[in-house]
Amino acid sequence: MIVTIDGVAASGKSSVASGVARALQVPYISSGLLYRGATLLGLQAGLDLHDARALLVTLQAQPLRLEPLAEGNRVWHAEQDVTEQLHSTRMDRGVSVVAALPEVRAWVDAQLRALEAPFVAEGRDMGTNVFPQAPAKFYLTASPRIRAERRARERPEDVPAIEAALILRDQLDAAQSAPATDAVVIDTGPLTLEGVIEAILAHLPA
Ligand code: C5P
Repeated sequence: MIVTIDGVAASGKSSVASGVARALQVPYISSGLLYRGATLLGLQAGLDLHDARALLVTLQAQPLRLEPLAEGNRVWHAEQDVTEQLHSTRMDRGVSVVAALPEVRAWVDAQLRALEAPFVAEGRDMGTNVFPQAPAKFYLTASPRIRAERRARERPEDVPAIEAALILRDQLDAAQSAPATDAVVIDTGPLTLEGVIEAILAHLPA
């Protein structure tokens, strides 16, 4: 069984997916980390992030590996754990450019589809594009201000700067970030993390 949890940036997808996966005793998969990993490789190689062909050559020559651990996914590159480098303002800025490239999307999709179910998959297009056959789909939303306040606990910038960056990323991601028609949409604004996890568990088919 595959559960998909999509949603806008900083809507709490990773924490929610991790909690749901723990309750179900299955792994969770954070697809955004593969886009972030591809961005890191591009930046490290000094590539123009719009250059899909060069990025793909780099990705094929130096494969990234997603390790779906229950306590948080890790990304490995050439025997090195690069996870800690993937969440920065610089990476946030570059990743939407890389994620807009169809060639990179196809590369990420192939990595994800090769994983063995059951699992909980979180991202932008898990329910629409990557796992349209999933029997349980969710889409998380929250206002930009609430999301910025949450993220301000993890980043050095202040809330208005984070909010502006989130609104921009929402616009850049809009093409690949619509809820599936059969997804349950949850506004996480008024809910605690545990509340969102419970709402999802309550909606799962028996
Ligand atoms: O979820 P996270 O914020 O880490 O994702 C980083 C970026 O990766 C998103 O802003 C989006 O551009 C891209 N992404 C995507 N499709 C996914 C997951 C992430 O386009 N399934």
